[in-house]
Amino acid sequence: MKALEGVKILDFTHVQSGPTCTQLLAWFGADVIKVERPGVGDATRGQLRDIPDVDSLYFTMLNHNKRSITIDTKNPKGKEVLERLVKTCDVLVENFAPGALDRMGFSWERVQELNPRMIYASVKGFGPGPYEDCKVYENVAQCTGGAASTTGFLDGPPLVTGAQIGDSGTGLHLALGIVAALFQREKSGTGQRVLAAMQDGVLNLCRVKLRDQQRLQHGPLQEYSQHGKGIPFGDAVPRAGNDSGGGQPGWILKCKGWETDPDAYVYFITQAAVWGKICDLIGKPEWKEDPGYATPPARLDKIAQIFDTIETWTKTKTKFEVMATCNPLDIPCGPILSMRELAEEQSLRETGTIVEVDHPKRGKYLTVGNPVKLSDSPAKVTRSPLLGEHTDEILSDVLGFSKDEVKVIREAGGV
Ligand code: COA
Repeated sequence: MKALEGVKILDFTHVQSGPTCTQLLAWFGADVIKVERPGVGDATRGQLRDIPDVDSLYFTMLNHNKRSITIDTKNPKGKEVLERLVKTCDVLVENFAPGALDRMGFSWERVQELNPRMIYASVKGFGPGPYEDCKVYENVAQCTGGAASTTGFLDGPPLVTGAQIGDSGTGLHLALGIVAALFQREKSGTGQRVLAAMQDGVLNLCRVKLRDQQRLQHGPLQEYSQHGKGIPFGDAVPRAGNDSGGGQPGWILKCKGWETDPDAYVYFITQAAVWGKICDLIGKPEWKEDPGYATPPARLDKIAQIFDTIETWTKTKTKFEVMATCNPLDIPCGPILSMRELAEEQSLRETGTIVEVDHPKRGKYLTVGNPVKLSDSPAKVTRSPLLGEHTDEILSDVLGFSKDEVKVIREAGGV
């Protein structure tokens, strides 16, 4: 038994944000039926291909545990099939450009008419307002949601981050909204609309920066290393390099081998509770009692110099040696792990966070499994579907079309 067993998802998503959401729902046990355009499919099937004519890793890694049906939703017979799916499923998830589903004839009003229990969930770039009609991709969301203006170094341009907080982050938000709406439907008996806007999702993940924006009105942000260096603040939250962003100062420091290995670094946090242990470790026991260093406020204007001194020590050790030395002392730190190191990390394989999947056309590849572990609903990752692999099975088993009806639909170009 799986947490979402029995829940049928009409998965009208493409690219990254929507597929992230429906993949999670599939891992929790929902039956996810991905609708794709005949002969074309989700655009990502063909994007960033590493093997000719084989579904890309971009696609396979976002569409596990789903079934694929092809439907031409602009064809009258295809529309009929889609209508039957709307009547049969519990949730419709989509991330088309604004208005695309209305133009197809499946507005929220129409979907409610067809199935009042339907939960209609959308990812859009923006919520209602001046930009609601805009198409949006990952980095647009990072820029308009506050991430880019607060990422990077003080003397450099805004930066986007490799973590796909706009796409995958918003997909995660949407999945939570869908599960909440399913829970409410248990009592109300009716569906509802669920909207996750990418700008809102990114801003939600950047809420500590909106916190700082308001603190800025009451004086400089003392924990930012900029403050310690005597650089005045402007009227908006600045980029803070590798500052920790919390109440405990942190920075990325070089480790042994940094001259040739771009990932020979460690994140080191000078947590107040373990200050004495840090002083002993780096050969500065006198800092424990020195009034200029003994308390967090006294250290604020010396943060850069303190990290320089700690780095002199970390440069004598590999990032793993730093971790092994600091951990028993409760000093929080973390090695900068490359994707190669993560792919090879045995403990992540053992928990199912990194999984090897077999695909009939590409062979074996690695993917990220369900990052959320439920003790009574374990997720088993199965490969992504080929384009239209389950069209016949869904038409007959799920939608109840007879063999003759399927033939007519096919001949009319509906699927
Ligand atoms: N049969 C027939 N037509 C289909 C179809 C099917 N099975 N599936 C999709 N289409 C059509 C749509 O109806 C639409 O046609 P229309 O514009 O004539 O009405 C068309 O395909 C394209 O859809 P659209 O969503 O506009 O795709 P796009 O490639 O132009 O834009 C995005 C891609 C991601 C920019 C856009 O979908 C978007 O902004 N989505 C919302 C935000 C989002 O999720 N962004 C992140 C993506 S990771």
